[in-house]
Amino acid sequence: TKSQAWSALFSEPMSELVQRYTASVFFDKRLWQADMQGSLAHAEMLAAQGIIQDEDYAAIQRGMAQIRSEIEAGTFEWKLELEDVHLNLEARLTQLVGDAGKRLHTGRSRNDQVATDIRLWLRAEIDLIAGLLREVQGALLAVAEKNVDVILPGFTHLQVAQPVSFAHHLLAYVEMFARDEERLADVRKRVNRLPLGSAALAGTTYPLDRERVAQTLGMEGVCQNSLDAVSDRDFAIEFTAAASLIMVHVSRLSEELILWMSQSFGFIRIADRFTTGSSIMPQKKNPDVPELARGKTGRVVGHLMGLITLMKGQPLAYNKDNQEDKEPLFDTVDTVRDTLRIFAEMIGGQTNAQTGAKEGGITVNAAAMRAAASKGYATATDLADYLVKKGLPFRDAHEVVAHAVKTAQDQGVDLAELPLETLQGFNRDVEQDVFDNALTLEASLNARNTLGGTAPAQVQAQIARHQARLQVV
Ligand code: ARG
Repeated sequence: TKSQAWSALFSEPMSELVQRYTASVFFDKRLWQADMQGSLAHAEMLAAQGIIQDEDYAAIQRGMAQIRSEIEAGTFEWKLELEDVHLNLEARLTQLVGDAGKRLHTGRSRNDQVATDIRLWLRAEIDLIAGLLREVQGALLAVAEKNVDVILPGFTHLQVAQPVSFAHHLLAYVEMFARDEERLADVRKRVNRLPLGSAALAGTTYPLDRERVAQTLGMEGVCQNSLDAVSDRDFAIEFTAAASLIMVHVSRLSEELILWMSQSFGFIRIADRFTTGSSIMPQKKNPDVPELARGKTGRVVGHLMGLITLMKGQPLAYNKDNQEDKEPLFDTVDTVRDTLRIFAEMIGGQTNAQTGAKEGGITVNAAAMRAAASKGYATATDLADYLVKKGLPFRDAHEVVAHAVKTAQDQGVDLAELPLETLQGFNRDVEQDVFDNALTLEASLNARNTLGGTAPAQVQAQIARHQARLQVV
């Protein structure tokens, strides 16, 4: 095991266990593209600054191209004794192009290298996840568009509260995912800054042009303090926090989907391919996908806790602790990506190759929703509002309607099923129009015509706004 980059000083080889314990190549090799991208930008700048020769840069480019094809072909030999992705690539480069390969690391440390790699990698993943968030919003929006006039009970405390449009309910999730998208865009600004050029911790003696490298890599600026640059992982924590919120939103939606597709609700169905059967109960179709998504939320929130705890005791500057940033970050990205992908399809369906139409999204049982909204006195507030229009103070109206609800409950009927005379017994001013103007589900919705309310006109306006924002027609 004499292949380590620092071996001259060491009088004995690393034990196998220590080697395995300290190595990261088996998980950080997925950073290879970012590592190569960073190395090429660094080499280009070294040549432009006259720190290495143009021929060296050309050789490095040639060697990297070869390495790229080897990795893509699956023939690249990853070596545990070379510890991580950085040393694996550099060692192979030197094997391929000789001294030019050995010059690549001039003015650079793995400390600024790895920080740069994670940022480059995460930037691309953020863009991917932002795109998936838009797909999920698009899917919710497509279902919303078809269900503006479908009414279900809105709940507070999971008790029937007031009727709402199903589209309105779905648009609440569109708002959440839109905020997630905004948050990612904000995190991206701080991910997209360049640590490279900070070297191990103190900067370097070579006349590097850091701005040039930042520009080559499409970064918005350079990290301004070398100690901070090599040790900062705030961006990873921020990303994982944003990812945790995405998963919390997915989890809340999952919980509702699970309830809605239970026999007690029967509001929706999801396509069979997102459910599984039971090995004992022949009748079962279980909502495994939303359940797992709800479960995986714990895993992502756990990664947030892991990362934030990883940083809390670290003195400046780089410490090997930081190698532990990768697995939680990778797993967060993988989990969020897969979850959003599957949700976009589960909700909106998949595109039929022939017709171009979306098929197999959630199926809505409008009758079941309506039946549920018609139980539980969802229009009681509307009756109170009706009495207020007749001149009664709201608190008195509230009390009057409580009596009416009690009576209806005792008789086992809905408010709208009480005879006019009974209602007039509670308040003389009640007239026949109460049935159309207060006690129907439609009247209840239509009356909530304030910005952000559930009136169909408001919901249509919100759909149009989101469509314009997402540029879907
Ligand atoms: N594999 C290391 C990491 O992920 C790379 C940086 C190592 N630097 C060092 N001085 N040991 O953090």
